[in-house]
Amino acid sequence: MTDNPSETGGVANIGVIGLAVMGSNLARNLASREGNTVAVYNRTQARTQELIAEHGDLGFVAAESIDEFVSSLSTPRTAIIMVQAGKGTDAVIEQLAERFEAGDIIVDGGNANFHDTIRRERDLRERGLNFVGAGISGGEEGALRGPSIMPGGSAEAWATLEPILRSIAAVAEGEPCVTHIGTDGAGHFVKMVHNGIEYADMQLIAEAYDLLRRVGGHRVEDLVELFRSWNEGDLQSYLIEITAEVLAQRDADTGRPLVDVILDEAGSKGTGVWTVQNALGLGVPVSGIGEAVFARAVSSKPTQRAAVQRVLRRRPDPVETPEGFEDDVRAALYASKVVAYAQGFDLIVAGAREYGWDVDLGAIARIWRAGCIIRAQFLNRIVDAYQNDPELESLLVDPYFADAVAHGEAAWRRIVALAAASGVPAPGFSSALSYFDSLASERLPAALIQGQRDFFGAHTYRRTDKEGTFHTRWAQDRREVETEPSTH
Ligand code: 6PG
Repeated sequence: MTDNPSETGGVANIGVIGLAVMGSNLARNLASREGNTVAVYNRTQARTQELIAEHGDLGFVAAESIDEFVSSLSTPRTAIIMVQAGKGTDAVIEQLAERFEAGDIIVDGGNANFHDTIRRERDLRERGLNFVGAGISGGEEGALRGPSIMPGGSAEAWATLEPILRSIAAVAEGEPCVTHIGTDGAGHFVKMVHNGIEYADMQLIAEAYDLLRRVGGHRVEDLVELFRSWNEGDLQSYLIEITAEVLAQRDADTGRPLVDVILDEAGSKGTGVWTVQNALGLGVPVSGIGEAVFARAVSSKPTQRAAVQRVLRRRPDPVETPEGFEDDVRAALYASKVVAYAQGFDLIVAGAREYGWDVDLGAIARIWRAGCIIRAQFLNRIVDAYQNDPELESLLVDPYFADAVAHGEAAWRRIVALAAASGVPAPGFSSALSYFDSLASERLPAALIQGQRDFFGAHTYRRTDKEGTFHTRWAQDRREVETEPSTH
């Protein structure tokens, strides 16, 4: 930034390209903060005019062409692209790159795939430009009032961006919810995991709701108060809060709870799928996120669901609910949520190792405390956990979480058993419990799997009692031989 625009050709310290709702809200947020002058540009000019007509008092520099936009920026030129992720992003990047000079900064604020971000950053770096993939969470409201921001890219770009992004980010306990996540695609990777956790959290809340209704026999009206009360305790979070809001909504046409007239087929835009795909590649079990993605996929197969329902008897089966059923559901939700977050953080660790990012897990938890969709009290506990031990093997071994899970464990088991007995699906709750039990088991049946692999493919195995790699000559004399590890 410079004080003398004549030297630099422009007056705006920051520009926003793409003025759909997220883009214009972000531009308004930027323009409303002291020290920012914001250039705006949209391919369809009507949108720019709309923004100026409604919010021109914020002092935007409205550009009619990309050339005008670029020349309205002071150096280092800094532009945030807010267009739908995909091909359009490359085209806009290219338009800017052709006009930008060494040291200028292009920020992609969309939900880009971090592999694309790594590629774009490398290509632009070779041309002397800075490219920053920044995850921005919080939806339309967040963009306007303060999102949680997860920027990647170079340290040089961060030096320019830091004051700008801090000025617009949400604030949690006095700290702006933005931190430099790591180089190149780190920001978009972490945003991807944020979204994966968002999927898991939403799925778990949905399962809790379903069990309360279909096993517990609660009416929607009663659940509104229950979720509101949960929002006062350790489950306090934006997603619990909006759950109560959605359940409280009545349909104007029918007078019924809105949730009963919404088609039960959950959509998605892809970030949950990416999270699971990448976790599979990195060998990280993110079963909570996986179940959430699959649950949406099952819900979106109405023909198959109808076919199965025609053949099978209807669910749920009536079961006796024990005293304190609601508290049990709450405990199961909390424990499953701890697992989902533990898995998400494991994925960040694995991604950082694979792609060479120096990430600070505590700082990531800190910037998720406000502004983003998964904002929650709970994140403070994660901040503490990584502060106590930055090398934590799993969130599940942090004393606070270990205690919390141990405390809810019996209830968690009761709920998973009840769900199974009644025929109400609870894939999130039960897979979280299985994951927990797997980690907690001294021996796993993986030993048998190794035996099977060795039997049919001579894949070899290691032993518990001595070093080395072994194979049993299954088809011959069934004697064990020491061997080289299998490579096929
Ligand atoms: C956010 C959200 C947002 C995401 C939606 C849609 O952090 O503000 O994660 O980025 O686009 O939640 O996700 P699905 O359509 O895939 O559910």
